[in-house]
Amino acid sequence: MKTCVITGTGSGIGREVAILLSHAKEYEHIAMLGRNVEAMKVTENLMDETGKDISVWDIDFQYPEKIPAIIEAIYEKYGSIDCLLNIAGYTDPQSLLQTTLDNMEMTYKVNVFSPFLLIRESVKYMKKSGGKILNVASTAGMTPRPGWLSYSSSKASIISMSQTLTDELSEYGIKVYCVSPGRCATKLRKRLAPNEDPTTIMQPRDVAEVICNLISNEESCLDGQNIVIRKQIKKH
Ligand SMILES: NC(=O)c1ccc[n+]([C@@H]2O[C@H](COP(=O)([O-])OP(=O)(O)OC[C@H]3O[C@@H](n4cnc5c(N)ncnc54)[C@H](OP(=O)(O)O)[C@@H]3O)[C@@H](O)[C@H]2O)c1
Repeated sequence: MKTCVITGTGSGIGREVAILLSHAKEYEHIAMLGRNVEAMKVTENLMDETGKDISVWDIDFQYPEKIPAIIEAIYEKYGSIDCLLNIAGYTDPQSLLQTTLDNMEMTYKVNVFSPFLLIRESVKYMKKSGGKILNVASTAGMTPRPGWLSYSSSKASIISMSQTLTDELSEYGIKVYCVSPGRCATKLRKRLAPNEDPTTIMQPRDVAEVICNLISNEESCLDGQNIVIRKQIKKH
């Protein structure tokens, strides 16, 4: 019985990943971590629970110091941690002179410090028999995005962290994946581009399908790369 720990499942890309994952055979235990328990319960209702044990863990990544106890509790409940999907993300896009230390701190706590602690704590258990870690970065972490200082720099950090850990964790049979989606119609995207028509950009299911393919048993050579996910949308 394998266990997948997943964040950001209350909406957007994370919700679609959780739904697809529940239909796949790889992971029987799915632990969803987030601060909006009600939204995660809605996701749970959309999932296929046949043969699965799905659980919801209440944590606000504003307080990453709470992560070690939760990962330990998940391990105690399920007996293994085989996959970790860091999908939760936060943004409050501001120009440099409007960017407060609070904005920087909050963005980094959700987008960098929490994934770091989730990885470190999960690897304590995962290193026994190998596993998979996938981090959701962004094309914003690769190319300049004026006005998105905290978000873009946090995503550049998770790209670098993923690449560093690919080498460091390979000796334990742990594969580290990093994906960088482009524009995708979610709540977060609405904060970054409030005037954009969401029907003209990629949908969460598109990104979720790539993520689920990457962590499937069939994949063997795409770890360690920053995989860009973009879709050409036909213009009417
Ligand atoms: N949409 C895009 O265009 C795009 C492009 C590239 C990368 N990404 C990345 O994709 C990932 C998923 O985002 P999305 O686009 O699907 O947007 P979304 O629907 O807004 O999802 C973001 C998720 O992160 C969770 N989250 C935020 N702050 C949190 C906190 N303090 N504690 C716990 N959970 C928290 C949110 O939960 P709440 O509901 O509680 O806020 C939500 O479930 C993010 O890492 C984002 O940076 C998105």
